[in-house]
Amino acid sequence: MKIRIIHGPNLNLLGKRETKIYGTTSLDAINQMLSALAKKENVLIDFFQSNHEGALIDNIQESMDCDGLVINPAAYTHTSIALRDALLAIGRPFVEIHLSDPKKREAFRQHSFFSDIALKVFSGQGPQSYIQGLEFLIDSLRKKD
Ligand code: DQA
Repeated sequence: MKIRIIHGPNLNLLGKRETKIYGTTSLDAINQMLSALAKKENVLIDFFQSNHEGALIDNIQESMDCDGLVINPAAYTHTSIALRDALLAIGRPFVEIHLSDPKKREAFRQHSFFSDIALKVFSGQGPQSYIQGLEFLIDSLRKKD
């Protein structure tokens, strides 16, 4: 089983960026936690982060060889029909991740272009949102097999 983890814009600054909202854990540390879980579960994972919508779309299009995706689209959650279309185009199951809970924040974060097509949304748990999301995706892919 192969799973791709995709991080959207500004998530490269985790650990330094608005720490009251996003915490002090770096993106590298989150990726290491996910790698440890994948190793324990005997699953292959790789990672991609970009601040550029087009690069994220290209990477999603190149994810046809993956069984599923874990994606935190970050601010593109609330704006990007193009990223949504890319995920629909490849037809792979994915979970939507947020460190914070966008539903409890500003009005412009209330809408997600991904939630209705995601297997499930994991939010508001800091790095644990990613862990719970990856566990859930692995479980659902195993049930499908
Ligand atoms: C985020 C929430 C988004 O609203 C925001 O634009 C982000 C991060 C989160 O992980 O909580 O950049 O996706």
